[in-house]
Amino acid sequence: MQTTSHIWKNGKLIKWSKCQTHVLTHTLHYSAGVFEGIRFYKTEKGPAVFRLKEHIKRLFYSADCIGMRIPYSETEIRNAIIETIKKNKITSGYIRPIAYYGYGKMGLHPKGAPIDIVIALWGWGAYLGGEAVKVKISPYMRIHPKSTVADAKICGHYTNSILASIDAHNHGYDEAILLDYQGNIAEGPGENFFMIKDEKIYTPRTGSILPGITRDAVITLAKDLGFTVIEKSIKPSDLKGADEAFFTGTAAEVSPIASIDKIKFPKKNPISKLLKEEFIKIVTGKNKKYTKWLTLAS
Ligand SMILES: Cc1ncc(COP(=O)(O)O)c(C=O)c1O
Repeated sequence: MQTTSHIWKNGKLIKWSKCQTHVLTHTLHYSAGVFEGIRFYKTEKGPAVFRLKEHIKRLFYSADCIGMRIPYSETEIRNAIIETIKKNKITSGYIRPIAYYGYGKMGLHPKGAPIDIVIALWGWGAYLGGEAVKVKISPYMRIHPKSTVADAKICGHYTNSILASIDAHNHGYDEAILLDYQGNIAEGPGENFFMIKDEKIYTPRTGSILPGITRDAVITLAKDLGFTVIEKSIKPSDLKGADEAFFTGTAAEVSPIASIDKIKFPKKNPISKLLKEEFIKIVTGKNKKYTKWLTLAS
């Protein structure tokens, strides 16, 4: 991975190589931590963070879900992110804030463990490689909403995502799709799912997914472009008549899907590609209508 010079930890900017944690860090063992993935892009006015407010709000929501009180305000964390971008003198990349139970207490109940918060960032290109991806329906079920808080971004959830990714890669695919406990399509390991049929855009309703901030942006964008967007349960059998499908996510941005298991989508992804192009214009500040989604770090 690319590295940068400084990481923000508990209020201080420290050298990347010196930002370490003890092996008995509570979250390392039990995975009760919360994190965000945020991108910032080069614009003509300098680096701009995409939907910073929404990401930090979700970070605090996720922390609330596991009973963690982050010892900073949302504004302080947003300012710390801007400060970290400036310190590292980097024009575009990926930001990873993580809040976790630190060193000093073992045993499942985290009471008494310190809460550490870190903001790292680095340059990161196309997460799914830039080409339309080959997707496998996972044998692993997306975490049940009654086993955890499915719409929070909690570290422990990602074992479910990692298992699905490993399975897909082991079978020669680029990415997985997980079904929910009712057998409906939920999402990718780190992406939301969309399907297009007769120029209408469908996406799984909330309940068993992480309601992505990119998903929300793409729904808004698609509606503004005149498309009908429908949130509903989608069964794998519904994929048969679909014309296109794509993933959205901070890392994946808008990533067209070439095939899911044996189903190949007949059209060459014209609508997915349009949404991808328009999304890139938004995040790079070239579509003035959506500059409200950008926070300058210059
Ligand atoms: C499980 C999961 N679903 C969906 C997404 C997409 O969410 P967002 O667009 O907010 O990055 C992510 C990435 O954060 C994710 O990890």
